Amino acid sequence: MDSRVSARALASALGGWRTREPAYEALADGIRLLCLDNRLAPRTTLPAERELAGALAVSRSTVAAAYRSLRDTGHISSLRGSGSVTLPLGRREPGRVAAGDGMIDLQQASPPAWPGLAGLMAEAAGSASTLVSRVGYDVLGRIELREAIAHRYAERGIPTHPDEVLVTTGAQSAIHLISSVLVGRGDRVLAETPTYPHAVDALRRAGARLVGVPVTTDAGWDLERAEQAFARTLPVMAYLMPDFQNPTGRSMTTLERAAILSAGERAGAVLVLDETTADLDIDRGPVAPGFEPSEPGTVVRIGSLGKTVWGGLRLGWVRADGDLIRRLVAARPAHDLGTPEFEQAIATQLLRRFDQVVAQRSALLRSGRDAVVKALEAQLPSWGIPVARGGVSLWIELGAPLSSALVIEARSRGVLLTAGPRFSVDGGHDRQLRVPFTAPPDEMARAAALLADAWAAVRAGAPPSVVAEAGAVV
Ligand SMILES: Cc1ncc(COP(=O)(O)O)c(C=O)c1O
Repeated sequence: MDSRVSARALASALGGWRTREPAYEALADGIRLLCLDNRLAPRTTLPAERELAGALAVSRSTVAAAYRSLRDTGHISSLRGSGSVTLPLGRREPGRVAAGDGMIDLQQASPPAWPGLAGLMAEAAGSASTLVSRVGYDVLGRIELREAIAHRYAERGIPTHPDEVLVTTGAQSAIHLISSVLVGRGDRVLAETPTYPHAVDALRRAGARLVGVPVTTDAGWDLERAEQAFARTLPVMAYLMPDFQNPTGRSMTTLERAAILSAGERAGAVLVLDETTADLDIDRGPVAPGFEPSEPGTVVRIGSLGKTVWGGLRLGWVRADGDLIRRLVAARPAHDLGTPEFEQAIATQLLRRFDQVVAQRSALLRSGRDAVVKALEAQLPSWGIPVARGGVSLWIELGAPLSSALVIEARSRGVLLTAGPRFSVDGGHDRQLRVPFTAPPDEMARAAALLADAWAAVRAGAPPSVVAEAGAVV
């Protein structure tokens, strides 16, 4: 089914699009970026020129010229009577730009596989005959693996029974399943902004109306806004990342954990804690996990081996009270029919030596982070480089709403990045850029040099009012 985007929604997604002259090319670039990172899916009908012109307060001829430019570059087609429709972009993977030869791809913050993984896979292959003797459709998860996951929680001070664990094909699958069970059409869901974009995609698909609570790299969670949002909107669910939040890298303080838990409990919300990044500690040190609810059922945790071991393993889990686990199991077959046996066997082995895995990760992320910080401080001294104590990325303050313009410019120079607004819940974040530190250090050094050139070009082309803001950054 084709979808449409309203003029108001498109104007809001475009945010501060007017980053260069002529205005029609800046507008076309803004729409191109929305197509590239899949915020405008292929075959979406764009608003009529007159309506978009009204919503953006520009002349109709500006929108007409932008649409013409988009037609020329193959981003849209316009047919008399059926309007302008976005087109699939070549061989692009959905949601990502395909990285061609020589391109540096920083769109995803995914570390390379844990070095011991290939050996473990070879070992697991040795017991393939036992694995294939099983039924194979496993919607709950192997008991050995659920025990290993429960044991890991217990080590963190969160006593867990294996019946409180459901194994999934990654954290994304868990988010999708939980959203489909807990969220009904029109329900409010609270989420941090910025946040992990595919969680937003899954929640929106389930019909959620998202309420954003700001998180910043220097001040953390805006507790006043969080408390107000819980009290006023009574969300059914909150989706949160208390440890090494993606993309800011912030961890909640003990006070933030306690305040959010009690506001959530007062509102009757289920707090879904995505802990995909929780084990990616570089130099923060252990903290008490908090979020001990007074009623069972208030707190749900999601885990994954995607960042600690390898994204290609596609293995994650949900920790929740037995009731919710049973509801998830009942709903699951509509999504998928279980988690592959082979991956579960490997995951069980991995969790038995998880301290070793996590230590390697910490060392790898430390060298990645230090290399990126060094390269960016040398090449882009005007940027505000934050302190990240763990996680996978830096959430950088640009000092001017030029993130989208910079991403387009960087792309033409061979660096693929995701602009700040992709991480937004309710618009904005065009002043921030996510830079992962998961790529090899030499690649990051090259990327920083190219980014510095792109930044100079973007600033040179931006209208004076925008550049004046950028100049104010020290
Ligand atoms: C916060 C967060 N949650 C979930 C996911 C998806 O994890 P998985 O690969 O296990 O599906 C990611 C991956 O980037 C993530 O960063």
